Amino acid sequence: MDASAFERWLKTTMGLDASSVGPGVVARAVAGRLRATGLGDAGAYWRRLLAQPLEQQELIEAVVVPETWFFRGVEAFDALARAFAPLRADGSRTLRLLSLPCSTGEEPYTLAMALLDAGWTPERLRIDAYDISERALAKATHAVYGANSFRGRELAYRDRHFRALGHGRWQLSAQVRQCVRLHRANVLDLDFLPAQATYDAVFCRNLLIYFDPDTQVRTVGVLARALAEDGLLFVGAAETGLLLSLGYASAQMPMAAAFRRQRSAPPALAVPEPWRAPALAPLRAPPARPIARPAVRPAPTPVAAAAATATIAATLEQARRLADHGAFEQAAEICQAHLRAHGPSAEALYLSGLIHGATGEDARAEDAFRKALYLQPDHTESLMHLALLLDAKGDAAGARLMRQRASRHRGRSA
Ligand SMILES: C[S@@+](CC[C@H](N)C(=O)[O-])C[C@H]1O[C@@H](n2cnc3c(N)ncnc32)[C@H](O)[C@@H]1O
Repeated sequence: MDASAFERWLKTTMGLDASSVGPGVVARAVAGRLRATGLGDAGAYWRRLLAQPLEQQELIEAVVVPETWFFRGVEAFDALARAFAPLRADGSRTLRLLSLPCSTGEEPYTLAMALLDAGWTPERLRIDAYDISERALAKATHAVYGANSFRGRELAYRDRHFRALGHGRWQLSAQVRQCVRLHRANVLDLDFLPAQATYDAVFCRNLLIYFDPDTQVRTVGVLARALAEDGLLFVGAAETGLLLSLGYASAQMPMAAAFRRQRSAPPALAVPEPWRAPALAPLRAPPARPIARPAVRPAPTPVAAAAATATIAATLEQARRLADHGAFEQAAEICQAHLRAHGPSAEALYLSGLIHGATGEDARAEDAFRKALYLQPDHTESLMHLALLLDAKGDAAGARLMRQRASRHRGRSA
């Protein structure tokens, strides 16, 4: 028995497109479960899988990608706080937010921190957070985080909202935790959201990339049901093209990947026809083992080289910020100056590509992404954005190739 039966089961059960996580991931997960269960062959394991909900969850845990960190895609959180500032000021009601998938909690807790820092009180925030992974949710409940959850240079929020436990571990404050309700759910199960759920904003970032096109459309249908009429839908940077093709319009919040429903949305946005994933039976004993992650330790760098790297990164960050505020011309100029001064780099070219894309210069965006990939063939974001551009101009085969390359690289770095 080969991996394809397990791949089909995972696809039907949780929407996973096995090619999106890289070749061999499902086979390795099954091999790992064979060892863990002591079962001798894949046929015996297959029968165990179909019979035991606990084993189903174990296989799901073995293939999910829980990668996340605080303030990932910071522009989205800035944009959210700005968009709802008038509601905060008028004091009329609670803000309702959905984070799906929430993984180990960094995304919904970032929502809470960003809004508390913008002047909201915990009583007026309701953040529902869902994920299919019991282990990720166990870690979110525990709310103790290490270096891998704190990336980037601006970490002032950590001093405001966390308590140092020593050994590089940080405990999130009770004030932030109280804003978030954690739930387990499979996004493919249409019933998991209460009927009256109408969220002001939905964060569904870095999930659709793991689904095949049909499952993506179904998932966007579930989200459409959850979102208030004029609500904001935030997706991952590599998922924006899909939303445009499904009747959402950019909310014009640069770099935030935020969308609103178009007034005359096409039928794909309606709740999809009754269909549900095979139900996952409730677990008898939730496994509460957090996934162990290796701490990220950068290789030692000589001081001078480190300072130069920091300056280069700072210039690009400045360009990013300008683009974030809609100053595309200035941002593009800084990128060009940066490229002239420091020579071509994948990051600078990728950023140029994003800026050209945001201003509708698709040919220049494509050129920039291709150059970025020439320098760094495994630059996943460039691969995904190039795929979207190729899709948009009808080059489905080219787009597929780029996605396959992105999946391969993601699989290797997982
Ligand atoms: C890469 S993380 C994204 C977390 C966060 N949204 C972010 O962007 O940082 C993907 C998460 O999707 C969850 N997931 C995968 N399939 C799911 C499904 N069918 N229903 C709910 N969650 C799912 C996984 O458990 C994993 O935690």
